[in-house]
Amino acid sequence: MADIRFEAVQRAFVQGGKEFLAVGGIDLVVANEEFVAIVGPSGCGKTTCMRMVAGLDQPSSGRVLVNGEEVTGPGPERAVVFQQFALFPWKTVFENIAFGLRAMGLGQTEIDDRVNRFISMMGLSGYEQAYPHQLSGGMQQRVAIARAYVLDPGVLLMDEPFGALDAQTRVVMQEELVRLARKNPKTVLFITHAVEEAVYLADRVVVMSRRPGLIREIIDVKSIREKERWDDHPRIEDVMDLGSFVHLRSHIWRTLREQHLGDDQ
Ligand SMILES: Nc1ncnc2c1ncn2[C@@H]1O[C@H](COP(=O)(O)OP(=O)(O)O)[C@@H](O)[C@H]1O
Ligand SMILES: [Mg+2]
Repeated sequence: MADIRFEAVQRAFVQGGKEFLAVGGIDLVVANEEFVAIVGPSGCGKTTCMRMVAGLDQPSSGRVLVNGEEVTGPGPERAVVFQQFALFPWKTVFENIAFGLRAMGLGQTEIDDRVNRFISMMGLSGYEQAYPHQLSGGMQQRVAIARAYVLDPGVLLMDEPFGALDAQTRVVMQEELVRLARKNPKTVLFITHAVEEAVYLADRVVVMSRRPGLIREIIDVKSIREKERWDDHPRIEDVMDLGSFVHLRSHIWRTLREQHLGDDQ
């Protein structure tokens, strides 16, 4: 049980001796077990927002709360998946996934149970003893996702986790993440600049403006997904052909395009 709350969050940085606002003032609540995607132009402060929830960075003003407590540093109830898979190259797939559980001091039987469950769920069976360099990018990202889920964190933070994958692998991973997320509901903050990915995965999509990052619009995808029964279609390309999907995607594209025009004109 965990929710994420941004209260008037601003983050200023200094670049070339000048201070500028990277995050201009964000108010947002991600409810318990809700999957929220943030999209926005490059440099609009998406990663900075996520780092503040992870406790890797602090707001200049305002507060970030997880489960009602102000975030002051990293914690085990918040797991992070980055674009670069960040696996331990000298550890096997099994040991990469088990790492956090060992750090928590769990016994071997429980570690085996939990790790094996996610190895099978993420299609990694047979690769338990492989090392990261022996795996494709897609397989490595499965390990990174399994490693985050196995900790059973209240909050999962993913920063463009599929950004480094080729297009076909990305689609397979999106389908698998949807299955995993529906089976193991978590409070997820998912950052991407791929509009389709956001609409396909998320309950709500937050569209951010250009720097300084502000929320332009929040789109409730879940009610449309349920009403139009997207989950009846196991394949992503069938979902993406649905009129309701196309409509949402175009709407978000238009909002994003306005962000660019606002800067260039
Ligand atoms: N540690 C930092 N010091 C100075 N500037 C930073 C730092 N981190 C991010 N920025 C700047 O803040 C802005 C937002 O960055 P970021 O959150 O990474 O954007 P996004 O993830 O949306 O592409 C960018 O202009 C970036 O250069
Ligand atoms: Mg980023």
